Amino acid sequence: MPSSLAPHGGGEGHWTDLNQDSIVLGLLLECADDFVNGQVLCDKLDVPRAELLKRIDSLRARGYVIQTSGGRGYRLVEVPETLNEAVIAPLLSTNELGRKLHSYAELESTNDEAHRLAEAGAGHGEVVVADLQTKGRGRRGRRWVAPAGKALTLSVILRPSIPPARAPELTLAAAVAVCEAAREMGAHPARIKWPNDVEVRGKKLAGLLTEMLAETERVRHVVLGLGLNVSLTAHDFPDDLRQNATSLLIEKGERIPRPLVAAQVLEHLEEWLTMHETEGFGPVRDRWRELSSTLGRRVRIDGDGGPLEGDAVDLAEDGALMVRGPSGELVRVVAGDVEHCTVL
Ligand code: BTN
Repeated sequence: MPSSLAPHGGGEGHWTDLNQDSIVLGLLLECADDFVNGQVLCDKLDVPRAELLKRIDSLRARGYVIQTSGGRGYRLVEVPETLNEAVIAPLLSTNELGRKLHSYAELESTNDEAHRLAEAGAGHGEVVVADLQTKGRGRRGRRWVAPAGKALTLSVILRPSIPPARAPELTLAAAVAVCEAAREMGAHPARIKWPNDVEVRGKKLAGLLTEMLAETERVRHVVLGLGLNVSLTAHDFPDDLRQNATSLLIEKGERIPRPLVAAQVLEHLEEWLTMHETEGFGPVRDRWRELSSTLGRRVRIDGDGGPLEGDAVDLAEDGALMVRGPSGELVRVVAGDVEHCTVL
């Protein structure tokens, strides 16, 4: 569940209905399987019982299943699986990311749709999600395949004020955010394989595909595409991937509704993108190093500069991977696939 479900904006006495929905939902989520007393909810909201009933009705209309028991209060029985703005809005505590959400049953690729929307004027933080992608794209020209409704496939439109050369920093910030979100959702040993795969014990949990449209000196927009395996079982992965892939369901041992996963991810993304905007790449780089599964290992690189085997020693100030090659030389790797060979 999102670590903070606090409402955003609005002062005391001026909370919007949505903010009050968020508070009620946050309290019901916190108490998981237990009933929450109606008076407790009224006190927290500082509203009369009739207003609480409106909020409960509003959440039910969004698809949340809430049980009522005369003496005991209210209990959240089910969070809907549907990923749309109505469901996700009361779960979000972000200021910008995901506040406008375009949701589709099927798309060729959420990244493609996000580019189209961005070119048509969509703003920073708008999100595209799809239950199924028919032409999902992965890094380095690969395909990204996931069964309908079992993965989180989303793209975030960003309008950062950084020069195009610094755009790779965003993808590393996003990897940190997704890795932290995954850990909070039960994939505790999640780590980052350079540059931005999130994996658990060597099995891939999530991948990022960051694409940019830029002029010489100015980024027009960035699309941050995320594929995160949520409720896939081992059988859902194709034979050739089964040994090397995992999901939140497999790691945690229980299903987490995708809207909760999306809210958690968007919250962490906003936190790290804001950190990057205000404090630069330094804090992102430090956290990436802590979460990395690549640094300190012998690696085989299939990169733009040709194949290379060596020891991954550091993440450079611009996000390149620093590898000590066979003759002791330090090589900067800016793009490529990494295979972990051994622990050093
Ligand atoms: C990779 O690990 O190769 C990156 C995978 C990125 C997949 C996501 S799913 C949502 C978005 N839309 C796409 O077509 N690709 C990204």
